[in-house]
Amino acid sequence: MTFRYEGAAEDTIDIADLTLEAGLSVAVVGATGAGKSTLVKLLARFYRPASGTIRLDGVDIGHYDLAGYRQRIGIVPQEAHLFEGDIAENIRYGRPDASDAEVTAAARAVGATAAIARLPGGFRHAVRQAGGNLSASERQLVALARVALVEPDVLLLDEATAMLDSGTEAAVLDGMFRAARDKTALLVAHRLTTAARCDRVLVMDAGKPVEYGTHDELLARQGAYARLWESARPQAPSRQEVGSGV
Ligand SMILES: Nc1ncnc2c1ncn2[C@@H]1O[C@H](COP(=O)(O)OP(=O)(O)OP(=O)(O)O)[C@@H](O)[C@H]1O
Ligand SMILES: [Mg+2]
Repeated sequence: MTFRYEGAAEDTIDIADLTLEAGLSVAVVGATGAGKSTLVKLLARFYRPASGTIRLDGVDIGHYDLAGYRQRIGIVPQEAHLFEGDIAENIRYGRPDASDAEVTAAARAVGATAAIARLPGGFRHAVRQAGGNLSASERQLVALARVALVEPDVLLLDEATAMLDSGTEAAVLDGMFRAARDKTALLVAHRLTTAARCDRVLVMDAGKPVEYGTHDELLARQGAYARLWESARPQAPSRQEVGSGV
């Protein structure tokens, strides 16, 4: 399967053959620009492959009815999009008929309750355009609750830790793992400590999958993944630096 953005000189994604097992969490790691977010967008059908196919349960995802497909896939992008309305309305996005109790349960399921309770008005807190009056982690938590409410079969999560302060990052990560529990989940992990918590790790390099296996297998292989760990190792005994680099 290949994909290329318009005007790009080379394929942005070039995957000859790759099968991910159902029911597992897979971390996608790799340098910035490796194609991690693009891969997520292809799986979400935001883009169409230029060649080849992506199959879910053996069926080309392009053959599923789009609305039905979107019900099966839950995506939390690197920058979650919120709209004007209150927190509850934003969570309800994928299931407008959901009750208040269901909305609250979805927020609880991803560990967002405390963060929402801190907002003036809680679930009734007014979200301004694009969620500009919320912090990045609050937006991510709302987006996670949104996905939890729909209960999709497949979760696509782009971690986006660059925007998060370390204090609230842990809440978002926990929310991601809670949402991913017992699901087929692809987590773009910008921190290798996140990857280490997943069942499998997929290493992308310049649009190509270069390694796939468990964290332990890939470390033992002493290849690309092991090198990523090596380069992310702290040079100084400062916890701050570990936090921002790993
Ligand atoms: N909308 C776009 N139009 C053109 N090129 C794009 C677009 N989005 C991404 N690219 C390019 O495609 C390549 C892969 O980008 P992508 O965002 O998938 O990388 P990534 O692995 O998610 O990086 P990061 O870790 O920084 O999030 C990069 O070279 C990027 O510049
Ligand atoms: Mg990205």
